[in-house]
Amino acid sequence: MNRFSILATARAVPKKVVTNDDLSKIMDTSDAWISRRTGIHERRVATTETTTSLSADVAKQLLNKSGVNADELDYVIVATMSSDYMMPSTAAAVQGIIGAKNAAAFDISAACSGFAYGVKILDALLAQKPGAKGILIGGETMTKYINWADRSTAVLFGDGAGGILAANAGNGRIITTDLATYGDLGSKLTAGHFGYHDPQYHQADAEDRFCHQDGRAIYGFAIRKVPKSIRRALKKADMSPDQIKYFVLHQANARIVKSVSRHLHVPFDKFPISINRYGNTVAASEPMLLSRLVDSGKIKHGDIIDLTGFGGGLTVGTVILKF
Ligand code: ACO
Repeated sequence: MNRFSILATARAVPKKVVTNDDLSKIMDTSDAWISRRTGIHERRVATTETTTSLSADVAKQLLNKSGVNADELDYVIVATMSSDYMMPSTAAAVQGIIGAKNAAAFDISAACSGFAYGVKILDALLAQKPGAKGILIGGETMTKYINWADRSTAVLFGDGAGGILAANAGNGRIITTDLATYGDLGSKLTAGHFGYHDPQYHQADAEDRFCHQDGRAIYGFAIRKVPKSIRRALKKADMSPDQIKYFVLHQANARIVKSVSRHLHVPFDKFPISINRYGNTVAASEPMLLSRLVDSGKIKHGDIIDLTGFGGGLTVGTVILKF
């Protein structure tokens, strides 16, 4: 059986805090509406930070915390939908910044499921060589895709990065995974219409970088498909929900998390929440939350945890792992 031990976790957020009250000064919204409908109180917004700088900050912390040298890394992977450039990848930029000269580096694009998809990919890569090590980061500056005049999306998102450094060593392992994609629903959640779908790139094609969503459809998708994915993963592993210490879900809406806990008949206190402070940070939300739980001593080696992401694609991804 493959070993996959998480040697360190880390997170980084931009300095600028934007509260619901701040938003209510620039759009027709209120703290009461946002808190009640989403559970969000504030979020961080990048002003000087970039997807690369936040991700590199996380990578440096991971090396410091684990005591691993950059040249011992075999892989640097970044899950992101808000890379600073089409090319080079954020992962390649981070690899260069930290001097991981023996690591192959690449980004993966699975929106808010990116971290869960990334764990599966990193596990498969590390399995090739005992002792192999890799960094997986979810890094996002999603607010650059936000139209601050569109209150239906602007209040939801924030920026940040989180990550893990894992090794094919120790006693940790991936117990099971369940990844699913519903490409036929892709138009329900989109961002970055830069005209690149047109091979001739006619500029007349209006550029629209902003995030658009059918909020109700995404909500319905999440509350139906997330419990199903978790159930399929538990069934594959022949496990019951009470064997899971924490369900670390993508933080898109606290009401979605509550609904998933109800569907699974699992107490809500097993579903930690960080959306109140950070909003939806896309691929960064699960590793940021994981890192907080590890730093506060709530997750320790030997614990079994569930990581589930969902979002653009549309995609869903569940990983059950022994930490
Ligand atoms: N402030 C005040 N009122 C608002 C706001 C706002 N920020 N946004 C919408 N409203 C209004 C609407 O205009 C509507 O008014 P009306 O009844 O007069 O027409 C009313 O509030 C209700 O709007 P709904 O969209 O029906 O509200 P809902 O309860 O569905 O909540 C929300 C909206 C929070 C977006 C919810 O649907 C949701 O969380 N959906 C999931 C979205 C999501 O998670 N997306 C990201 C996925 S992850 C990824 O991959 C990026």
